[in-house]
Amino acid sequence: MSTWAVLVAAGRGERLGGDRPKAFTGLGERVLLAESLERLEASEWIDAIVVVVPGEWEEPAILLSEELNAGKVNSAVPGGATRADSVRAGVAEIPDDALIALVHDAARPILPEEVIARVLGGLGEDWDGVVAGLPLADTLKRVDQHGRVAETVDRTGLYAIQTPQAFPVSTLRDALMRGGDASDCAGLVEQAGGRVRVVEGDPRLVKITTAADLAFVETLLANE
Ligand code: CTP
Ligand code: MG
Repeated sequence: MSTWAVLVAAGRGERLGGDRPKAFTGLGERVLLAESLERLEASEWIDAIVVVVPGEWEEPAILLSEELNAGKVNSAVPGGATRADSVRAGVAEIPDDALIALVHDAARPILPEEVIARVLGGLGEDWDGVVAGLPLADTLKRVDQHGRVAETVDRTGLYAIQTPQAFPVSTLRDALMRGGDASDCAGLVEQAGGRVRVVEGDPRLVKITTAADLAFVETLLANE
């Protein structure tokens, strides 16, 4: 029985800007990728790790793993044009006898061990996937392209979904094989008819999209 982590870091980071992919941008003293990689390495729930990076960045990813003494890293492979393509490339590295895949965005550097435990602990016979999420706190409005409010949306039952997300490896493989488009892995599993549940995420799992997010996560890290 083994649990494999797929750390997707193959995005270009266009909204962040900069001269290198987002995963290799500086965060504090290190590159952004180091943060989640180190936490997966240290997790008592994770047996092996596949890192998915932009083409040509496999070697820097392996060097980083060596620097961090991240012996669980099995391979660093190039991703694809979409996030789903990148997850597919990572999942292809998982051996057939592995049981569980935990997919995480490198763009969410602060990955608390207790969230990994909740997500993996939530899997059971009744579920095809478990995702971390938080109920929305803000008022939601649908707004047109001129900035005019069209309606206020009832937020009852609405969650912001994060990673990590966990699935039986075979379930995730099947969902990825069907193709389709979704902004997260659970979306693909849902389209395949899978039952997905939400467990409590963490506000520290914020995704770095813009330079302001980067600065915010740096202050969170400095105060840890
Ligand atoms: N990702 C990936 N392969 C892609 C696209 C995204 O592995 N083709 C990963 C990113 O590296 C990130 C996560 O999916 O860890 C979430 O994506 P996002 O935050 O959108 O990152 P980027 O796509 O890099 O950023 P942008 O959309 O601004 O270019
Ligand atoms: Mg993107």
